[in-house]
Formats: sequence, C-alpha cells, structure tokens
Amino acid sequence: MLENKSVAVLLAGSAALWLVATQRAQAGGSDPQEFTEIERGRYLAITSDCASCHTVPGGKPFAGGRPIETPFGNIVAPNITPDLETGIGAWSEEAFDGAVRKGVRPNGARLYPAMPYNAYTKMSRDDVDAIRAYLNSLDPVSNVVIANTLPFPFNIRATMRIWDALYFKAGEFRPDPAKSAEWNRGAFLVDGPAHCGACHTPKTFLGGDRTDQYLQGSYLQGWSAPDITNDKRMGLGEWSAEDVASYLKTGHNRISAATGPMAEAVSLSTSHMTDEDTRAIAAYLKSLPGKAGIETPLPANSATMSAGNAIYRDQCSACHGIEGKGVAKLFPSVASSSIVRSNDPTTAIRMVLRGARSVGTRGEPTAPGMPSYGWQLDDGQVAAVLNYIRNSWGGAAPAIDARDVSRVRSDTAARPD
Ligand code: HEC
Ligand code: HEC
Ligand code: HEC
Repeated sequence: MLENKSVAVLLAGSAALWLVATQRAQAGGSDPQEFTEIERGRYLAITSDCASCHTVPGGKPFAGGRPIETPFGNIVAPNITPDLETGIGAWSEEAFDGAVRKGVRPNGARLYPAMPYNAYTKMSRDDVDAIRAYLNSLDPVSNVVIANTLPFPFNIRATMRIWDALYFKAGEFRPDPAKSAEWNRGAFLVDGPAHCGACHTPKTFLGGDRTDQYLQGSYLQGWSAPDITNDKRMGLGEWSAEDVASYLKTGHNRISAATGPMAEAVSLSTSHMTDEDTRAIAAYLKSLPGKAGIETPLPANSATMSAGNAIYRDQCSACHGIEGKGVAKLFPSVASSSIVRSNDPTTAIRMVLRGARSVGTRGEPTAPGMPSYGWQLDDGQVAAVLNYIRNSWGGAAPAIDARDVSRVRSDTAARPD
C-alpha cells in the first residue's frame, strides 16, 4: 500500500512545479555567479532537486512526508522548512552541513542513503550554506513527519555506518586541470548536486554504487534508467551534445522523451537549469566512453523478429515510422533510443504495456502520449515487437521473451502510472 503511494507521489511530482517556476521568476538573471547567497542557494536547491523528495505533491514545499521507495522499504523524507519544532529551524549551519554532505544527524544518527548525501558531498561548504540560507528564507511549516520503519537489520541506523564505510566517500569535487571548465562544471553537476548516478549507476545488493559501471544504467522503482554514457549501442552515442542539452531543458528532442521519474527530474530540476549548465552536463556525458560491448542483432528471419515486424507495421509505425525514426519532439525515434536497446528492457516493456505520458515544460508545453497495449498484445507479442525494434535499423540487443514481459507486468501491476 505504502509502496503504491510512494510511486503515486513520485509520478505526480509536478505539484511542486509552481514553486520552482515562481522562484525562478523571482530569481531573475541567469548567471548563477551573480546571484546573491539566497538566490544562489535557490538555484543550487533546484539543481539538487531537494523539493522533489521533501515535498508531498500538492503539499507544502519542503515540508516533508513523501515516502521514497528503496529496495529495503520506504523511507520518509523529513520536514526541512525552518520550523523550529517539526522542521530544521533549530539546526546550526554545521548540523545542516553534516546532514547534507556527510549523512549524519546532529545527534550522530546516520541518515539512509535515500537522501543522496553521497552525491551532495561534492558540493562546497559555501554551496551548502547558500542552500540553508535559501531554506531559511521560506515560511516555516509545522508538519510532523512520521519516521519510517524498515525491516531488520536496516531499521538499526547504526548499520548505516557499515554502508558508509563500504560506499561513502566524503569529499568536495576536485576539478581536473587537464579538462575544460565546461567539462568540469558538467562533472560537478552530474556527480554532485544533480545526483544523476542515484538513478543511472547500477547498485550492489546493499544499494551502493557499482562504480565500475558508472552511469551505465540501473533499475529503480519499476523503471530502468538507461545507460547515459556515450556508448554507441546502449547509451547516448547517437545523440549530439545539443540533443542531450535539449532533452534536459525541454524533456524532448529528436530521439526521445522523458517519462516517469525522469519526467519529474526534468520538470523540477533540469528544465530550470541555465543553458550553460545543461550544455556542460551534455559535454561531460558525451566524454564518457561506456562499455556495453558489442551485440549481434537477432536474425531478421527468426520467428520473433518476423512476428515483431508484423506487429510493428500494424500498431506502431503510424507514430514511430516504418524506419523507426519517429517525429522529432513528438514521437521518439525507437531506432536510436537507449531505452529501447538497454540490456534491461524494463522501461520499454512497461511503456508498451501501460503507455506513457511525457512531460510538458516551459520550452515545450505539449506532453505527447503513448497508448497502452497491455490489454491488446499478449506477453509473447510484446516481446516480439520489442525484439524487432531492439534489433532493426542497425541496433542490437539481447532477445527478450514472454517471461520478461510477464515479470514487468506483475512488477508494475501494483504501481500506478
Ligand atoms: C532522492 C530523495 C532526496 C533528495 C533529492 C533530497 N533528500 Fe534530503 N532526505 C531524504 C530522505 C529520505 C531523508 C531521510 C533519511 C533518513 O531517514 O535517514 C532526508 C533527510 C534530509 C535531512 C535530515 C533531516 C532530519 O530531520 O533528519 C536534511 C537536512 C535534508 N534531507 C536536506 C536535503 C537538502 C538540502 C536536499 C537538496 C540539496 C535534499 N535533502 C535532497 C531524501 C532526499
Ligand atoms: C529519479 C531518478 C533519476 C534521476 C535523478 C535522473 N534520471 Fe535520467 N532517467 C531516469 C529514468 C527512469 C529514465 C528512463 C525513462 C525515460 O527515459 O524517460 C531516464 C532517462 C534519461 C535519459 C534518456 C535516455 C533515452 O535514451 O531516452 C537521459 C539522457 C537521462 N535520463 C539523463 C539524466 C541526467 C543527465 C541526470 C542528472 C542531471 C538524470 N538523468 C537524473 C531516472 C533518473
Ligand atoms: C499514437 C502514437 C504512438 C503509437 C501508435 C505508439 N507509440 Fe510508442 N511512443 C509514443 C510517444 C508519444 C512516446 C513518448 C512517451 C513518453 O516518453 O512518455 C512513445 C514512446 C515509446 C517508447 C520509449 C522510447 C523513448 O525513447 O522514450 C517505446 C519503446 C515505444 N514507444 C514503443 C512503441 C511500440 C512497440 C508501439 C507499438 C506496439 C508504439 N510505441 C506505438 C507514441 C506512440
């Protein structure tokens, strides 16, 4: 039940959008360097997407109470408004910094890494002080957040000491002097405030980053987040830096459209970044080689490919095109999408079964939708049409079968869209 709720709120996050939008309007100029401390803090809070987890959609911004789904259970995000009793108004700057960059509460208790302190540690003390100054400038909201209960042994916060020892490396971002200022800005944003790896880097069974597969795609909350390195087969190899930047800015580009948790990241965070910052992220991601490896496409005359070809022509080609190229900013190019070719097909399967609605942003207010086929195609047919688009037009990806589809059907059945 709780799990349903957490996904419901996760997907409905646009409620906090008005907040970001009004704040952005008040903030004026676009050069973060020139912002005063509060304005700088506001921009960093948007870049870090603090509002998404710490706000129940429809509720008071930053007042907490939203359950964050993890493989170990839901962890409820606390109230971080300056309320003295129920928020963090009484916390010193030191204590705030301890929570945000080190994952430690003032009483010494460890935070769960559902709060991405392992990424925020890359920020400077100045950055975190600015975020605090911004939060302090907001109205205090009295809201008691009921803490979560995780199953043993994760209910014992001290076990997080072990987690920290294994997976947490405290320390500010250090620029690489051999690289450009733009690249370094991108690396800082991706690894620090924007915490892209929280969703895109595969996790160990304890939820720590598999650093050897940095940004190569991961499963979360009923979705697969694809490889976002420059890998040609599974990643952003076919995207130009401009494609990446416009996806982050508007939620769409000539290849893909953001949906689910990524739609929320775009609407609350990346679409409000400056053009310099989305371009810096793009430049950085395009510099990562990735290593998905070579895959041979399934033979075009195999049973699953022929069946898939027929279904594709019938059901899908009207929008995605006979050649899979789609229509820029409206219908994704299934021939070049990393979601399609990902080794983990969860998101592609889920979208065919349940349909999807992309995100509307200020730059592109229309949110194109994809119909659901879960009632019309059986599991074998869904597998076939996906095998076809995964292995046509120069693409290649491992074959999937009816069992993969049935797994996603039951995994997502309990979750709202
Ligand atoms: C991905 C979700 C997520 C994001 C993004 C996030 N937080 Fe959190 N935060 C949490 C969760 C969940 C907890 C509670 C963890 C626990 O109970 O151990 C938490 C705890 C905290 C705490 C400790 C409060 C207390 O009462 O113990 C502070 C302070 C905090 N977050 C500030 C921030 C700030 C500032 C940002 C943005 C820079 C931010 N958070 C972004 C999920 C998030
Ligand atoms: C809350 C989890 C989450 C965070 C944080 C997140 N992503 Fe994503 N991302 C996803 C999921 C899930 C998808 C797949 C769904 C989709 O494409 O809309 C995705 C898709 C993408 C895609 C599209 C790939 C394709 O082929 O369509 C890009 C590019 C991307 N993310 C980049 C980023 C960057 C850069 C960041 C950090 C600024 C980031 N993401 C942060 C979850 C996340
Ligand atoms: C009415 C037009 C339409 C039809 C018909 C359609 N789609 Fe889509 N499809 C879309 C739109 C719009 C999106 C983007 C939705 C989003 O991101 O939320 C999309 C997204 C996708 C994606 C994710 C790609 C990415 O990069 O975001 C896949 C995979 C996909 N469709 C496969 C199919 C298959 C397979 C069929 C036929 C069984 C099909 N679609 C039929 C409109 C359509």
